[in-house]
Amino acid sequence: MRASKPSMALAAMTALILSASAVGDGRSERFKPIGEPAVEDNGAAARGAVAAIISEAPTGFDNTTNGFNVQGPPFNTITDDNVQALRSFNDNRFLFEDVEVNADGLGPTYNAQSCAECHQNVVTGGASQIAEHRTGRVDASGGFFESLGGSLIHSRATFPDIVERVAFEDDVRTFRISTNTLGDGFIEAIANDTILAIRNAQPQAIRGLAIAVPVLEANSAARLGRFGWKNQHASLESFAADAYLNEMGITTPLFPDENTSAGKPVGFGTPYDPVADPEDDGEDVVAFANFMRSTKAPSRGPITRDVTAGESLFRQVGCAGCHVPTIKTAAPGTLINGGAMTVPNALGNKIIHPYSDFLAHNIGTGDGIPILPGPEFANTTNTIRTAPLWALRTRNRLMHDGLSFTKQEAIARHVGQASATTTRYNALSDTQKKQVLAFLDSL
Ligand code: HEC
Ligand code: HEC
Repeated sequence: MRASKPSMALAAMTALILSASAVGDGRSERFKPIGEPAVEDNGAAARGAVAAIISEAPTGFDNTTNGFNVQGPPFNTITDDNVQALRSFNDNRFLFEDVEVNADGLGPTYNAQSCAECHQNVVTGGASQIAEHRTGRVDASGGFFESLGGSLIHSRATFPDIVERVAFEDDVRTFRISTNTLGDGFIEAIANDTILAIRNAQPQAIRGLAIAVPVLEANSAARLGRFGWKNQHASLESFAADAYLNEMGITTPLFPDENTSAGKPVGFGTPYDPVADPEDDGEDVVAFANFMRSTKAPSRGPITRDVTAGESLFRQVGCAGCHVPTIKTAAPGTLINGGAMTVPNALGNKIIHPYSDFLAHNIGTGDGIPILPGPEFANTTNTIRTAPLWALRTRNRLMHDGLSFTKQEAIARHVGQASATTTRYNALSDTQKKQVLAFLDSL
C-alpha cells in the first residue's frame, strides 16, 4: 500500500527533511523511501474517528500486556510444540526468547541466537550490555564506504573460517549498544505530523533532523524514522525483519538475501548454510513486532522531592528541548506505517513520557557511519537520535557506543547542538546537579 498524498502544508515542511533517494548499490534500492511521509493524525480526524478519550499509557516492567494482544496461556505452559505465533503476548514473548540453531538457519554470520539475548534487562524486551560493531572507511572524496559485507561486523559465525574480521584500512569504527524495546508500540503509534511539529517548534540551534525511511512491509512507503540509534526504521515489523537477518542470520520475505562473510558468499548453496531462503516465512517477524507492540512503557522509580526539583532544572537548562517529556500517540483508527497498520485502541490517544523527540541531532558524538552509504544519507553520518531516557535506570553503559560509564560522563559528551544546554547545566550548583541526576535515576 502506498502512503496517501501529503497535504500542501506537510509537503512544504518535508522539504526540510532528509529524504533518501538514489543510494549507490543495488541492495539500497529497497531502502529508498517512496513518496513523502503521510499526514497521519489528520487523516483519522478526517474520517471522523472516535471521540477523543486520552489517557496515560500503562507502564511496568512486569511481562504483562498493554492490551494490544491478549495475555494468553500461562507462560510456563508454552513449549516449542504448542506455541502458536500471533495468538497472544505470551506466545509471541516465547518466540522473542526462542533460541535459534543451525538447523533453523542461524547465521552463517550472526551476533546472537535470540532477540531476548540482547533485549532482556530487566524483562524480555528491555535493553542489555551487548554492543554491535560497525566499521567502514572514508575515501579521498570524503564519501563513506562500508566494510566488505556491510558496516555491521558480525561477532559470531557457524564455522571458524568465516568469522568476520575488521580490515585494518576500515578505520571508521564504533559500537552500538542494545536499546530498550519496551513501550515501542507507543512510539510506532506517534504520527509523522507530531514528530514534525516537535521539530518545527525547536529553536534553530537545537533543531533536529527528521529522516524519511522506507516501511518495507508497505512497499517502501516513506515514513519518519524513530527506531534505532540512527532513526533507521519507522516500523517495528521492518526493524524486526532487519534484526532477524542482521542479528541472527534468519532470512524472511522482507530480507530474503543472506549476509556474506566480509564479501564472501556463505548462504544456501555454499557449504556453510543448510537452509534454503527465506528461512522463515515472515510469521516470526510479525510475532516479534506484536510482542513489542504489546509491551507496557517503562515505569518510573520513586518520585522524591529531589527528583521533582531535578525535573524542573532539566527543563530549565534545556535538556527537555530534545529529551521531550510528553508526547501523545495518534488517535485509534489512524492509518500508519504507509497504510500497513491501523492504530488500535490499546496504543492510540495515549500519553507517553519517552524523554525523546525521535529526531536526529549532531551533539558531537556522531560515529561517522551513515544509515547507508551514498550522498543521500551523508547527512546522517554524524547524527544520533535523541536517546529516549525512559528505562534509563536499567542501563549502566550509556550513549550509542555504551562507552560512558556514568550519567555525568554522558552529559559531558553533549556538545555541538547541545553546547548551550551543557554550559547551563555546568553552571548549576552541586546541589542542583545532584537533583538533575536524581531525576535521571528515577527514569
Ligand atoms: C546481538 C544483539 C541483538 C539481537 C540478537 C537483537 N537485537 Fe535488537 N537491537 C540491538 C542493538 C545493538 C540495537 C540498536 C542498533 C542500532 O540502532 O544501530 C537494537 C535495536 C532494536 C530495536 C530498536 C528499538 C528502539 O526503540 O530504537 C528493535 C525494535 C529491535 N532491536 C528488535 C529486535 C528483534 C525483534 C530482535 C530479534 C529478531 C532483535 N532486536 C535482536 C541488538 C540486538
Ligand atoms: C540537542 C539535543 C539534546 C540536548 C539539548 C540534550 N540531549 Fe541528551 N542526548 C541527545 C542525543 C542525540 C543523545 C544520544 C547521543 C549518543 O548516543 O551519542 C543523548 C543522550 C543522553 C543520555 C544517554 C542516554 C542513554 O540511553 O545512553 C543522557 C543521560 C542524556 N542525554 C541526558 C541529557 C541531559 C541531562 C541534558 C541536559 C543537560 C541533555 N541530555 C540535553 C540529545 C540531546
